[in-house]
Amino acid sequence: MIIDGRKVISFCSNDYLGLANHPDVKKAFISGVEQYGVGSGAAHLINGHTKAHHELEEKLAEFTGYPRALLFSTGYMANLGLAQALVSRGDTVFEDRLNHASLIDGGLLSGARLIRYPHNDIDQLNEKLNTRESGEKLVMSDSVFSMDGDIADTNGLVNTCRQHDAWLMLDDAHGFGVLGKTGKGILEHTSTTSNDVSIYMATLGKAVGTAGAFIAGNDDLIETLIQQARTYVYTTAQPPAIAVATIESLRLIKNEPQHRENLQTNINYFKQCAKESEIPLGKSDTAIQPIIIGEVEKTVKISESLLENGLLVTAIRPPTVPTGTARLRITLSATQTKSQIELLVEHIATHTTGNSY
Ligand SMILES: Cc1ncc(COP(=O)(O)O)c(C=O)c1O
Repeated sequence: MIIDGRKVISFCSNDYLGLANHPDVKKAFISGVEQYGVGSGAAHLINGHTKAHHELEEKLAEFTGYPRALLFSTGYMANLGLAQALVSRGDTVFEDRLNHASLIDGGLLSGARLIRYPHNDIDQLNEKLNTRESGEKLVMSDSVFSMDGDIADTNGLVNTCRQHDAWLMLDDAHGFGVLGKTGKGILEHTSTTSNDVSIYMATLGKAVGTAGAFIAGNDDLIETLIQQARTYVYTTAQPPAIAVATIESLRLIKNEPQHRENLQTNINYFKQCAKESEIPLGKSDTAIQPIIIGEVEKTVKISESLLENGLLVTAIRPPTVPTGTARLRITLSATQTKSQIELLVEHIATHTTGNSY
């Protein structure tokens, strides 16, 4: 990136595969603009829904193994719309304490009772589900936790939801395109299927490199969302050229595994270098590698010092993360080089050696 005229290496983007700048994706975007213009002009249900949106929805459904998929303009809107469409007063939403803000806000705005359970604690979730006898039950969880990079106990969630006849929704914003042998995401990674996870959501602005999000599920779910999700109904459809570019991205995810392989090589290399330099890491094996510093001021100072050395790692502070856990949230990408990773680790080590996680 270039900041104030100076070149810096970014270690905080979610463009995990480098597809945002892939020449074929850029070309597809430009051709989409030439065909459709820039804006969609209206909501999907008026006349903003183009052939490109439709084709993308069909391809996303096929790729994820669900009967249908529905596009939203952002992931935040998908999560708000989903909760609001499915539950209301008298129902209960259960959420992991470390869920992304959009899931928490979705639960809060739905009017249902929101119950949060300790991070990845399936026993506690089970107990809390036992206390609710009436109304619908919806369990929502990040698949890869956005600030910690660890993965939800998916099989535990599947079994518990089944026992309690609860809907299970997974937000695969940080898994789609990168997890699993062919990049299909959390289901492929955990050998689960669309029969286990009734509601699947993923964003397109991260590994896919474009923008927007989708929810995948069965016919009843998608028809309910089309009729009831206010963040779907009452907003302008995403520009069709984004859908055209996303179709190309999806093709690359399927046909060019080297991006995923490069990412994995970089994750492994970063972890190995950090270990050798005694930098305390968390439990993550994904592209999200947080280094917990604790105090806000210290975290900001380290981030500023990294920037002075040409390395961009923004400081993540409360309320985005719990008090006392301010951190450097490092994200790896397929496009980083070994020497860039070495430089990062070298500079971080001068600030963190001796910390315990
Ligand atoms: C887990 C998770 N869900 C949802 C979102 C929101 O997606 P979007 O940026 O498309 O609004 C994000 C991050 O942006 C996220 O990390």
